[in-house]
Amino acid sequence: MLKDRLYEGKKLDREDRKELIGSVKDKIKNIDFFVNDNSLNRDYFKDKLYMLLKEEIEKKYAYFDFEIEDELINELFSEVFGLGVLERFIQDKEVTDIFIQDVEMVIIRNGVKEYLGRVFSNIDEVYLIIDRIKSYSSKTVDQRVPFLNTELYDGSRCSIVIPPVSDRVYISIRVFNCIDFELDDLLRLNMFDRKYYDILKESVDNKKNILIAGSMGSGKTTLLNTLAKLIPKNEFINIIQDVPEIKLKEHPYVRMLYTRIKSREYDNEINQSRLIFETLRMKADRIIVGEVRDSMSAYQMLQALNTGHRGSFTTIHADSALDAFLRLETLVMEYKVNINNHVAKKMISRAIDVILFLDCEKDENLNICNRSLKEFLLVDSNLSKRGDYKLEYL
Ligand SMILES: Nc1ncnc2c1ncn2[C@@H]1O[C@H](COP(=O)(O)OP(=O)(O)O)[C@@H](O)[C@H]1O
Ligand SMILES: [Mg+2]
Repeated sequence: MLKDRLYEGKKLDREDRKELIGSVKDKIKNIDFFVNDNSLNRDYFKDKLYMLLKEEIEKKYAYFDFEIEDELINELFSEVFGLGVLERFIQDKEVTDIFIQDVEMVIIRNGVKEYLGRVFSNIDEVYLIIDRIKSYSSKTVDQRVPFLNTELYDGSRCSIVIPPVSDRVYISIRVFNCIDFELDDLLRLNMFDRKYYDILKESVDNKKNILIAGSMGSGKTTLLNTLAKLIPKNEFINIIQDVPEIKLKEHPYVRMLYTRIKSREYDNEINQSRLIFETLRMKADRIIVGEVRDSMSAYQMLQALNTGHRGSFTTIHADSALDAFLRLETLVMEYKVNINNHVAKKMISRAIDVILFLDCEKDENLNICNRSLKEFLLVDSNLSKRGDYKLEYL
């Protein structure tokens, strides 16, 4: 009856929505670009999906006059392209990590582990998610190479391990959304107080070379990224990292360089120091190295900083600011055996202007509960007469 088809002011209920989404999904199976093209951008797909959904609604509810809610479009979108049940957590600002172990899921929300139990009805659903991730990254994971490290559509880092090298399917996601902080956010989160906030800003403005030290998970990359956001927009910034963690969306002259390991796709490795070398030729105004780990890149980074790349940032794994000096010295001397400790110190004092040490406290469950800027050191470019660093603790 006509009256039944009059949906004036009516909201679609769960069943209606499910049915609509189902019929749009059926429809797109026959549309070539939906099936074959992974390169098109998501907004484009979203528009197309919207049109299809609208058509479907008009067909089904002849006299409809309700708005197509964004929520419905999003639901459809994550069914078709997104990561289904994961989607919600990827969008959640408070969730930093997602772990899937077969059909179960664990998340870390505000530093606390939450066991969500079984979230997939069977393992096929998990493999479906893996397929989506694969098709987005155009990389593969299979019995021969049962590992995949890649980026999700939003920049989240994802690593997959599948049997037989593991007992279960493991998908680990470091959610990007959560590391996208501003300096103000970190102030609010008590990482540092107002005094340090101002000095940090000045340090970036005055093109200081900054080394951020701390243990894993202490927030080094996060702080580095927020500082990098303060760099004036007209500068050439070269960012060297292993995985795309550091992101500057607002800067037009950012050059991202990624290391790579030997793999099925590439039979040669490109390491950090090679990328630093390339950077020197690209005349970058600032160099950002995600984390110095090996001796060759430590040496080259210091060389680059000593030859006029001011305002550069990097991070290092260390247990204190002094430990960071020690680690750098060791790395440099490891690389060039003819460099003695005095020369290494000289290189470091000239290259680095500011050292920031981030401390993190853990609670009884080993969850990180407090990250704070514990040491803020200014490093004089000359050593003392006795050959020691001249440091000023702020
Ligand atoms: N001040 C902070 N408050 C709350 N969470 C933070 C803070 N700084 C960093 N984080 C979170 O801690 C996690 C680890 O940070 P990251 O910068 O990757 O550490 P690191 O580079 O030292 O290993 C990230 O998920 C990030 O969102
Ligand atoms: Mg890091």
